[in-house]
Amino acid sequence: LDVFTYDPGFSSTCSTKSAITYIDGDKGVLLYRGYPVAQLAEHCSFIEVAYLILNGELPNKDQLAAFDMNIRKHTMINENLKGFFGGFNYDAHPMAMLTGIVGSLSAFYHDTTNNKDARHREIFAHRMIAKIPTIAAAAYKKYYGQPFVYPQNHLDYCSNLLHMMFAVPAEPYHVDPIAAKALDVLFILHADHEQNASTSTVRMAGSTGTNPYAAIASGIAALWGPAHGGANEAVLKMLEEIGDVKNVPAFMAKVKDKTSGVRLMGFGHRVYKNFDPRATIIREQCHKVLKHLGKDSDPQLELAMKLEEIALSDDYFKARSLYPNVDFYSGIIYKALGIPVNMFTPMFAIARTVGWVAHWIEMVADPTMRIARPRQVYTGAGDRNVTPIAQR
Ligand code: CMC
Repeated sequence: LDVFTYDPGFSSTCSTKSAITYIDGDKGVLLYRGYPVAQLAEHCSFIEVAYLILNGELPNKDQLAAFDMNIRKHTMINENLKGFFGGFNYDAHPMAMLTGIVGSLSAFYHDTTNNKDARHREIFAHRMIAKIPTIAAAAYKKYYGQPFVYPQNHLDYCSNLLHMMFAVPAEPYHVDPIAAKALDVLFILHADHEQNASTSTVRMAGSTGTNPYAAIASGIAALWGPAHGGANEAVLKMLEEIGDVKNVPAFMAKVKDKTSGVRLMGFGHRVYKNFDPRATIIREQCHKVLKHLGKDSDPQLELAMKLEEIALSDDYFKARSLYPNVDFYSGIIYKALGIPVNMFTPMFAIARTVGWVAHWIEMVADPTMRIARPRQVYTGAGDRNVTPIAQR
């Protein structure tokens, strides 16, 4: 300890230098490559933001068209991957399928996984960002027992995803442009968040020089947990459990009772101690989408707003600087769009793939990269001798 710093949960350890995303948690600031996320959400598409995050600058028209085309041309997945989906049980969680299938991509696309080759890294980025919606939509179809729907490359990124999820052979499906736009905004807000648990996991796995698809699969696994990307699913389950505004006080009492183990999901953040700028945008988006869909008197939205109001004026939450985070309202939007609860975290994974890929590239392209290898404070037994089994 005189040489090393004990920092459980890495609250004050900078594991890397990065030029991708800037957060000021006290002021509620989030910048991608210097641009405020609110401006990006207002003026850009998700694919434009993906280009920015990967390349450091916003694209001009030609650069955007070329990047968009590269993503569109990689949307198909190898037909043999269907066999992998077939191997899962009917009730497998889509995140379980996503973790496994993305890991298996390393067995299909190993022709371009030389981490030191910039062209290989670029093709990997295009493939990963293009294929993750196809894989997530296939996981959805598997779960619901419907036939897989192939990508339609004339559709933009989010319209294509909605089409792959909701189209069925029996009848035509038309993507609602407002739904696609809402998804696009949500994806921009989720695209990167510097050294969060899943991105740090991708970096840690990637620091060993492992196959990049395997590194992304490890990030998906880390995202799944309810303290991270799984929170959007947990928020909806919590709202269902509370059921009615009249039950909020009893639920709040449980949250404040430390022995209950119950937390107000979608609240609190390791870095934001003032407010989460993404939550403000998502809240607005939530009202807009629900109004468009004629669901503005949604009882779960009313319940969420009541919970937020009570929590924000409660001393427990004030004293701990706990505010709604990005996941508090995102689930309500997803639900309004017809996306089932177990697909909420895969939605997050699709968007965050951009950040994971950008961080992986930033790391492996850096000649000073070292394997991530934290130290520990040992608390076990001292040096002792083995007693042969007959004498134990
Ligand atoms: N409800 C009730 N109490 C809470 C909550 C909450 N949601 N979050 C933190 N606290 C309390 C916690 O009990 C502790 O109290 P005390 O000081 O009395 O022991 C204090 O606030 C500090 O909490 P912490 O667990 O030390 O904070 P952390 O920085 O380690 O955890 C967090 C951050 C996001 C995991 C946590 O706030 C949490 O569990 N929130 C609910 C899950 C959630 O919404 N996660 C999504 C995060 S944003 C999207 C993403 O990153 O994927």
